[in-house]
Amino acid sequence: MIIIGSDHAGIELKKKIISYLYSKKIDYADVTNFDSQEGDDYPDIAEIVCKKVLERQNNFGIAICGTGIGVSIACNKVRGIRAALCTDVYMAEMARRHNNANVLCIGARLKNEDVIEIVEAFLNHFYEGGRHDRRLKKIREIEDFYLGGDK
Ligand code: RB5
Repeated sequence: MIIIGSDHAGIELKKKIISYLYSKKIDYADVTNFDSQEGDDYPDIAEIVCKKVLERQNNFGIAICGTGIGVSIACNKVRGIRAALCTDVYMAEMARRHNNANVLCIGARLKNEDVIEIVEAFLNHFYEGGRHDRRLKKIREIEDFYLGGDK
């Protein structure tokens, strides 16, 4: 399932992406306010999206804020989340193939390449494993060392 959320800056883009998911019959859950609300700050949105993503193995997240930077910083504080801020199709494809990203971050106020094509690239590519496993293991080691707590 696709877990989608945005802060106030990303509401319109979120609606556009939801229309696309709906039209393609892709299962999704909008986990943040449908319309802009006071206090829908990007760290909260990132946390809500990531928590839901981690509930099921095949979930992916889409987190949106003005630049995409805020949500990507916050998402990447959550153990087990590999969030990728993508502004073009190539980045979205490689985020899946090499980084096994489980959250796509998008900036609503940027001149992104076509956002729907970015979402499609993210959803339609798969992790390659192999030599990339070693690198992801090193990321988990960084999580273990710096984030502490439950593993
Ligand atoms: C909100 O104005 C803006 O700061 C936020 O959407 C995001 O761009 C932060 O990184």
